Amino acid sequence: MNESTPRLEVRGLQVSYGSTPVVHGVSFAVPAGSVVGVVGESGSGKTTVARVIAGELDPTAGAVMLDGSALGHRTRELRRAIQVVYQDPFSSLNPRMTVSQVLSELLRVHKMVPRARVRDRCVELMELVRLPVSVLDAYPRQLSGGQRQRVAIARALVLSPRVLVADEPTSALDVSVQRTVLDLLADLQRTLGLTVVLITHDLAVVHRLCDRVVVMRAGEVVEDAPAQEFFAGPRTAYARDLLDAAPRLTTTARTGSTGSTARTAAPR
Ligand SMILES: Nc1ncnc2c1ncn2[C@@H]1O[C@H](COP(=O)(O)OP(=O)(O)O)[C@@H](O)[C@H]1O
Ligand SMILES: [Mg+2]
Repeated sequence: MNESTPRLEVRGLQVSYGSTPVVHGVSFAVPAGSVVGVVGESGSGKTTVARVIAGELDPTAGAVMLDGSALGHRTRELRRAIQVVYQDPFSSLNPRMTVSQVLSELLRVHKMVPRARVRDRCVELMELVRLPVSVLDAYPRQLSGGQRQRVAIARALVLSPRVLVADEPTSALDVSVQRTVLDLLADLQRTLGLTVVLITHDLAVVHRLCDRVVVMRAGEVVEDAPAQEFFAGPRTAYARDLLDAAPRLTTTARTGSTGSTARTAAPR
């Protein structure tokens, strides 16, 4: 491994559900500390790729490389190394466990802190994701959608992963809440230097957070470019269509301004 070895790389991934191939040789790389956005229409294979990265699904061909090593059997350490935040935070939270129980169990099983420090670490995690400490004693159903997604983020970060995969992390939230959760993700990425694969159909999100954009269509990568280049002028007609679906973003992005302009993009 040297400095140019990407933190995460997928190489030639092919994936089938039963006998139906849905991902046909997907490759892209994610340098350490960067955010790569994976975009594309519904059904293009984004979640399938995320599940392979997470080790939940085996590819029929290709490999997932973490810091230069191909991931085969996932040891506990490797399962810890890649964490996923899903669109529906319920899927990663046990309804019968309080937030404190969920986080404490992970901290203990993975021996992240000495036992005596578990409670303190849970409190720190609430501060990290900007939730009141009282949330620790709540069950998932007692929380709002935004709170639940913050807990899911805390749950992913509790294990200090080498890669965070976020699959449409704000799509199920009210528009007003989406922004605050994205703000949180952006801040955490910067302050913790997280390496992130951010799957989204929302180009305003990509514009705001991503260093690089990978465009998927029908199970293939049709474009892979630095975000600046992508927003200045995507190469494929398909990507241009995606951009045109976010017209205000397109015009502001093309004037060359950054960051704050994404805030004016129409949330969908
Ligand atoms: N569990 C599954 N069983 C069978 N087919 C699936 C399953 N999950 C997804 N698919 C199919 O695989 C393709 C890619 O889906 P998915 O990865 O969910 O795309 P995206 O996340 O980009 O919307 C779609 O055609 C979808 O219908
Ligand atoms: Mg999906």
